[in-house]
Amino acid sequence: MGRDSKYMSGGRRVAFLITFLIVTFTLVGSGYWVLNFVRNRTVAESTERTVGATQNVMAMQDALSPIYINYIVRTDNYVSAESYVAMAAYVQQNVETQNVQVLTGLAPSEIVGYMMNHVVGGMGVDCTYCHSLENFAADEWEDEVAMANKVKARQHLLMSADLNQNWLTKLPALSDQKQPSGAQITCATCHNGVPKPEPWPDEQVALPDDYRLPLNNLDVLLVNARDDISLDAVQYNQYTMYHMNTSMNVGCTHCHNSRYFPSYERPAKDYSVMMLEMSEHIWNEYGETFNGKEPSCLMCHQGAIIPPGAAVSVDVMPEALVPASTTQ
Ligand code: HEC
Ligand code: HEC
Ligand code: HEC
Ligand code: HEC
Repeated sequence: MGRDSKYMSGGRRVAFLITFLIVTFTLVGSGYWVLNFVRNRTVAESTERTVGATQNVMAMQDALSPIYINYIVRTDNYVSAESYVAMAAYVQQNVETQNVQVLTGLAPSEIVGYMMNHVVGGMGVDCTYCHSLENFAADEWEDEVAMANKVKARQHLLMSADLNQNWLTKLPALSDQKQPSGAQITCATCHNGVPKPEPWPDEQVALPDDYRLPLNNLDVLLVNARDDISLDAVQYNQYTMYHMNTSMNVGCTHCHNSRYFPSYERPAKDYSVMMLEMSEHIWNEYGETFNGKEPSCLMCHQGAIIPPGAAVSVDVMPEALVPASTTQ
């Protein structure tokens, strides 16, 4: 996109920075605060203070993050004291990042803020899941599992950028009646606080165990006015529709005119066709990083019309992961 400054365009960068500063300081601040809290406890402070302090931590942990549609970032549950110390040392010692291949253009404090809010907050893991605390820039050290996780995390950074830049950008043109909210895909959108998300959890029991979306065979969903249609295809259509209902917690009429299901008058149906194609793309391009797990609508939507773990807008995302700004 021919940007030669390593910094972002004016307005967006300011919004990005402000959100980062506020949220990162709350998180890092509360992290240091927890350290103090633990230290104080070991020297047996008055019980009254301890109770008050515990309530404070609880309040902080239960607050919805302003970065997300409807999601709580719980970094205090899994970022260790050692990680906080290493993080602070990295920010102090580096003027710029050392080995950043995807998230280019971020200052050291910004990359740490991104790691806290999106990566750790999205996956529910400590920094050591992917890093050596001795050197955050390293791609090779003695922990092979963590090294492999860092590699996969880079692939999923690229995947998130691809989905935001090349797929969600198709939505605005699909309808005159409806515009997308601008929500962006980030780690929490699929991970929802766990390192290994389960796109097809057991709660989908109303469907047969081996049911999956008909990826690479989407035409099977078109059952109207066809005489070559089998009972199996009708059933496949019904399972898929039921999966869409429960994934988004909507009824059939969110996407259909119930008097004539084949018509495309409701924008959500066109959106869903795009989402099916996007899921197909995810499976074909990134399936090997998914450990054999096929994508589902539920993986992102989690029973909501807009995925709760999606970022609210491009303003809270690093520029490398979202469509190029149109305002410059
Ligand atoms: C799930 C894996 C994962 C976790 C967990 C994670 N990171 Fe990262 N981190 C990465 C990847 C991948 C990169 C490289 C990004 C790139 O190439 O664009 C990175 C880059 C960094 C960098 C830039 C280093 C450089 O090259 O100068 C820092 C600093 C960093 N992470 C800090 C942290 C901190 C602090 C935590 C914990 C709060 C953390 N990371 C948690 C995957 C992770
Ligand atoms: C489109 C959905 C999706 C998005 C977006 C996504 N992931 Fe993943 N991720 C998955 C799935 C599914 C798995 C496979 C889980 C398994 O192996 O059981 C996975 C696995 C991983 C793993 C390997 C975990 C392990 O223990 O084997 C890492 C690391 C990872 N993702 C990092 C990230 C990071 C960092 C981001 C954000 C930049 C991200 N992912 C965004 C769906 C996603
Ligand atoms: C989230 C949106 C969504 C929901 C909810 C939904 N559908 Fe669908 N429906 C679709 C999409 C997308 C297709 C496939 C259209 C395509 O491939 O072009 C489809 C196809 C169909 C078809 C086949 C139409 C044809 O052209 O042959 C029928 C019948 C149908 N749905 C019935 C239902 C019923 C009944 C429900 C409620 C139980 C339902 N749908 C819920 C999005 C939805
Ligand atoms: C990788 C994550 C992801 C997957 C998988 C996914 N979606 Fe979405 N979906 C999103 C995001 C993010 C939005 C919000 C877009 C916006 O508002 O800007 C969205 C929005 C939608 C909307 C518009 C909501 C509305 O206002 O009516 C529909 C309909 C939808 N998705 C259907 C589906 C269906 C059906 C599937 C499964 C075939 C699916 N999605 C799979 C991420 C995903």
